[in-house]
Amino acid sequence: MTSSSGSEEERSLARMTGVEKWFGKVQALKGIDFEVRPSEVVGLVGDNGAGKSTLIKVLSGYHLADKGEIYFEEKRVNITSSLDARKLGIETVYQEQALAPNMSISRNIFMGREPAKPLGFMDKKSMDRGSMEALESIGLHLRSPDALIATLSGGERQGVAIVRALHFKAKLVILDEPTIALSVKEAREVLDFIKQLKREGISVIFITHNLYHVFPSADRFVVLGLGEKIADVEKKDTSIDELAELIVKPPSHD
Ligand SMILES: Nc1ncnc2c1ncn2[C@@H]1O[C@H](COP(=O)(O)OP(=O)(O)OP(=O)(O)O)[C@@H](O)[C@H]1O
Ligand SMILES: [Mg+2]
Repeated sequence: MTSSSGSEEERSLARMTGVEKWFGKVQALKGIDFEVRPSEVVGLVGDNGAGKSTLIKVLSGYHLADKGEIYFEEKRVNITSSLDARKLGIETVYQEQALAPNMSISRNIFMGREPAKPLGFMDKKSMDRGSMEALESIGLHLRSPDALIATLSGGERQGVAIVRALHFKAKLVILDEPTIALSVKEAREVLDFIKQLKREGISVIFITHNLYHVFPSADRFVVLGLGEKIADVEKKDTSIDELAELIVKPPSHD
């Protein structure tokens, strides 16, 4: 018998165990075990208020769990801020939109991590060059690094957020409802970005209410309901219909 952690696919990149979270008297997470493996796309689904955003906010340092543990690359970690999460390589695109609309594309990509010149000024030229190269690399041809985020389409904005993740070599990208406000064409672009992340060996957690969006992209699905994990299934073992049924069914306790 060996206790080694097995093959690449079996190893976890991020693993959460027994996670509980209370908001006053509301228990948003009831002992959740959740993991993401290297290069894996996990679809995190469930009805409104199921606990999806809360779970990923614990992983990305936005909320502290009341109980439970987090492991990253098999090591126990303390994630107490979004900076802690970013240092580990976890990039999150929040439901509430993480980009600053009145700042330029290039400022948004480098937000919080501006390359400094010796006197402490930001090196705008290298930020601009880096931004445009990174955007081109995912097939987004934007006019200028100085364009304001507010002037971009929804799909282009998501692209900028994803470029930020790619550029800073994230290991795990978390997308909370990235396609919700998008046109059909824009949503397709975001789904293409997700495929690209996977090709680059980056793991993705994709939260959405649209099973038709998540089903083709994901390798595995985790269904939450009222703060509990209802199901954790590989794509080959499930279907859109079955997932839809699990989402509307309240958790059973027998
Ligand atoms: N900051 C907060 N303060 C108080 N209660 C909260 C807070 N955030 C979430 N909750 C509650 O925790 C529960 C889970 O919410 P959460 O936002 O995680 O759900 P969700 O699955 O992301 O839902 P949706 O699909 O609507 O985004 C809900 O009952 C919600 O009202
Ligand atoms: Mg949510």
